[in-house]
Amino acid sequence: MNNIKNKIDKREYLIGIIGLGYVGLPLAVEFARNNFNVIGIDLDEGKVNKINKGINYIKDVDDTLLATLVKKGKLKATNDFSVLKDVDSVSICVPTPLNKTKEPDVSYIVNVRDEVVKYLHKGMLVVLESTTYPGTTDEILLPVFESTGLKVGEDFYLAFSPERVDPGNPVYHTKNTPKVFGGVTPACNEIGTYLYGKIIDKIVPVSSTRAAEAVKILENTYRSINIGLANEIAIMCDKLNINVWEVIDAASTKPFGFQAFYPGPGLGGHCIPIDPLYLSWKMKLFNYNAKFITLADEINSNMPKYIVSRTADILNDKAKSIKNSKILILGVTYKKDIDDLRESPVIDIVSELLNKKANIFYNDPYINEFYVVRDPSEIDKDSILLHSTELSKELLKQMDLVIITTNHSSYDYKFIVENSDKIFDTRNALKGFKDEKIVYL
Ligand SMILES: NC(=O)c1ccc[n+]([C@@H]2O[C@H](COP(=O)([O-])OP(=O)(O)OC[C@H]3O[C@@H](n4cnc5c(N)ncnc54)[C@H](O)[C@@H]3O)[C@@H](O)[C@H]2O)c1
Repeated sequence: MNNIKNKIDKREYLIGIIGLGYVGLPLAVEFARNNFNVIGIDLDEGKVNKINKGINYIKDVDDTLLATLVKKGKLKATNDFSVLKDVDSVSICVPTPLNKTKEPDVSYIVNVRDEVVKYLHKGMLVVLESTTYPGTTDEILLPVFESTGLKVGEDFYLAFSPERVDPGNPVYHTKNTPKVFGGVTPACNEIGTYLYGKIIDKIVPVSSTRAAEAVKILENTYRSINIGLANEIAIMCDKLNINVWEVIDAASTKPFGFQAFYPGPGLGGHCIPIDPLYLSWKMKLFNYNAKFITLADEINSNMPKYIVSRTADILNDKAKSIKNSKILILGVTYKKDIDDLRESPVIDIVSELLNKKANIFYNDPYINEFYVVRDPSEIDKDSILLHSTELSKELLKQMDLVIITTNHSSYDYKFIVENSDKIFDTRNALKGFKDEKIVYL
């Protein structure tokens, strides 16, 4: 144990990161920035080549820092798993999506496990960071690793540590977001928390991998359910002719017992729409129906349809139908100021409006073009590709309706209000504007 700690202290401890996406690359950079030698492994050759050339592709990572770390030889990338034979610690940051029937797809974890096990060696630490249901580390990784004859907590170390990164958050990054850590044995916790403690300000140890896995799911289930509540309150407020945003803002003045969550056009991203369903799936194995999760998923998943039905009502008031109307969609990413389209509810809204034969235009400063499909693996020759249109006065004036679906900070909202005929604001981006032409969610 002391040998390992010495190696960590002297930075002779080689770090491996598998999966260099939104989670893995910032983590790799944080280790390298703290003087560790880091090798990233990704199947995507485009990403591997970019890193080795010092080119950044994740918005939250600093371009110059990445280039400098690569130049100094602190950070390298490869698609060859055999480098793991020399690696002391490996953090697994691969996707954990849902399949078409909304069940967990842990195939990425399984594929990585089958590579790691080939190179598992004495003293190695393996940390799973991908969000998943409680039990994954113990049930999917541990038995296969121990089938090599190596014993966990003695010959190798295994843990789960959820990633909490919040893309686009200007305050909280990898370093200053407390990190929960659960090892299979106390020794796994001791090594893992010692290592991560070198790069992260606060480590929160828990007693097991299952507890650590459950922490992450609780955090995102809490968000999903509260956003679901905010969405349902928005629907009810509309029926009562009350502005839901005013209600939430006023409720937020209560100094205790209330935390504000906001409605919107639906959930997006790789976390909140997906993670709770990992837990509800697991519960089905216990013949238990996770009612809150199911209900929140139903309400949140229906928001795009609700937005389209409100759109029909707004156009109806102008004696128009969705069919043949010119509609400008402002913002397609799942939240503001990021370049991530994954699971964006705006894709569903656009798809539904196109099905109803609307003429759709869109603008997004972060997305030049996109296919109107939820699952990129389903893109084919019939898929519709849309291109971002310049947000000009002429464009706005031509539109029957402008829908603000993502409230990017860079939009000039005064300009948008001045030049549009009718606006449906699903994000309260136009808070404070008092104009009959604006309809709020
Ligand atoms: N993005 C977030 O905001 C966020 C936040 C917290 C937790 N998470 C969780 O972290 C995990 C990773 O998410 P992400 O957003 O970084 O995903 P991502 O898609 O941005 O990155 C995953 C990377 O893994 C690579 N990959 C896939 N299979 C691989 C394999 N077999 N071997 C090597 N590389 C492989 C992909 O090429 C990709 O570069 C998920 O479980 C997610 O739920 C994500």
